[in-house]
Amino acid sequence: MKKIAVLTSGGDAPGMNVAIRTIVRTGLHYGIEVYGIYEGYKGLVEGQIEPLSREDLSRIMNRGGTILRSARYPEFEQLDVQKKGIERLKEKGIEGLVVIGGDGTYKGGLAVHRLGIPTVAIPATIDNDIPSTDYSIGFFTALETAMDSMDKLRDTSFSHHRCSVVEVMGRHCGDLALYAGIAVGSEFIITPETGFDLNRILTAINDSYNRKKNHEIVIVTEKMTDVNELARIINQQTKYETRATILGHVQRGGSPTAYDRVLATELAEYAVTLLHDQNGGYVVGQRGMDIVHTPIEDALNLKKEASSKRYGLFGKLKNKNGGTP
Ligand code: F6P
Repeated sequence: MKKIAVLTSGGDAPGMNVAIRTIVRTGLHYGIEVYGIYEGYKGLVEGQIEPLSREDLSRIMNRGGTILRSARYPEFEQLDVQKKGIERLKEKGIEGLVVIGGDGTYKGGLAVHRLGIPTVAIPATIDNDIPSTDYSIGFFTALETAMDSMDKLRDTSFSHHRCSVVEVMGRHCGDLALYAGIAVGSEFIITPETGFDLNRILTAINDSYNRKKNHEIVIVTEKMTDVNELARIINQQTKYETRATILGHVQRGGSPTAYDRVLATELAEYAVTLLHDQNGGYVVGQRGMDIVHTPIEDALNLKKEASSKRYGLFGKLKNKNGGTP
């Protein structure tokens, strides 16, 4: 292979720039020229494809977001649109593609691969909802942001003897809420995996108040419930004055943590090596200490289990103490 391209798609994630940089540098190592496709699959179809040089990628290790920009582009599910994208690649003589993003990105990558351009996908999403890897690029940076915000919330929550209800991102995956909850020692964590029982939460919050606990933090994965409404109910039915905070897109920004930089470097180097060795149709991932690859079709059919042990730990704590985790 002499020319490959890279795109970032879906929600951006800190560490994507590190992956792009590594792809270019690994490409140079193998004598492969790397092109950047701007604005994901939309830019692919529109032909926004430019060569990337080593200089283009200098001093971006610490920058959040993606220099290639990103887009959500559901139109790419259509075969005729996919074929247009393939034409754009062929016009430039591009023989392989690396796609960086979440499962929507993988689906696009699989389509490109099936239409004859070997493709490898790299997991990058703050949601950590990709089953074929223990962790996706960006998760630990978003976790750090969520943890830092909640530490700050605890300060004011404590000062005012309040309950804070905090919504974090995650789409349909509770990892961000769960890990942040462990990291800040929150009183309640509501995730799609655990569900929640409002009456139990209200009872437990009232118990805490009676035990003279000064403040409470309730973390909720987005889409589980309306956090403003939940705060209103807690405010009404317990003695804690309660406020809701939605952390929102701030969780997607910021300089990637060391862990995300190392992970992005390892995954990207592995992805380009796969393409160099003529292996397309894979997603790369981390399993324990290893960097592994899985066929894209298999990865899309896997169920997320990576964090189940941690959810299980909460189950055990609940049984032992007889309370709500
Ligand atoms: O997938 C990443 C993510 O940030 C999710 O956590 C969230 O549900 C979604 O993207 C938000 O999407 P948008 O940036 O399109 O509002």
